[in-house]
Amino acid sequence: MEFEIKPLASALGAEIIGLDMSQPIDDDTQARLRQAWLKHLVLLFRGQQLTPEQMIAFSRRFAEPHTHTNYEAELRHPDHAELLLVKSRHVAGRDVRFGEQWHSDMSFTTRPALASVLYARSMPETGGDTVWANMYMAYETLSEPLRRFLDTLEVVHDLNNGTTHRVRPTAMIEASRRRNPPVRQPAVRIHPETGRKALFVNEWACPQFIGMTREESQPILEMLFRHSTQPEFQFRQKWKRDDLLIWDNRCTIHLALKDYTDFSSRELMRTSLVGEPSGVLLTEQEYHGVPA
Ligand code: SIN
Repeated sequence: MEFEIKPLASALGAEIIGLDMSQPIDDDTQARLRQAWLKHLVLLFRGQQLTPEQMIAFSRRFAEPHTHTNYEAELRHPDHAELLLVKSRHVAGRDVRFGEQWHSDMSFTTRPALASVLYARSMPETGGDTVWANMYMAYETLSEPLRRFLDTLEVVHDLNNGTTHRVRPTAMIEASRRRNPPVRQPAVRIHPETGRKALFVNEWACPQFIGMTREESQPILEMLFRHSTQPEFQFRQKWKRDDLLIWDNRCTIHLALKDYTDFSSRELMRTSLVGEPSGVLLTEQEYHGVPA
């Protein structure tokens, strides 16, 4: 099956033109799509008409979807646990939107997402874009001594670190922490399909390095958060209804922009695909910054 690949930014992102993802895709086409995805990290398919089942089937062509038991039930599609409903919620007097800080999906688990898929159902008139950053570039553009130092480090990934999560009532945070205990992950990971190294830290989940105090960790982490999200490393998606997009969480981070006020106007469906095992659960001692 023929399709065109149109790059959308110099750092990452490409549009696939000419494929209807509600239809079966032959193995050769799927293999070429996967190569395009490994090269461009984010693939966009415009104007797709998919049922929830077809969105799950599209996702399965890349890997098995998570069932999202780590999220509150109200965020899951009532008939398909694989589908997360990405829309704002009213929590503790505040409108909380999904993905308000830079992150990589499920990085706070020992099966971080290999990929995620978003399918746009409704969008505000303006705003509500999503931005991705290329974490290969983030790693490769650091100085050699810093790369060597980071290669040896592990970093805490904690779902409940993010500002969105900290505003919730204490009981909700505690329940979430029981479902999602913090994990330690390598600060740099080797992508299992491309063999390239990618930085694996993000501002939502990462409070500190293992074996270092927060005071020692934070200036380094803040520098890495700034460095990895510089505009030259980014692709920005302006959503239209029926856009279908898949990205590689192993070498990107992303952020949903909060620049819209009609909260009910933005709704997408998401799958996250189960990645390779990575990281281990933290001990309480490690979490409090005592050298392991
Ligand atoms: C997400 O963080 O997975 C959702 C991104 C978005 O809402 O644009």
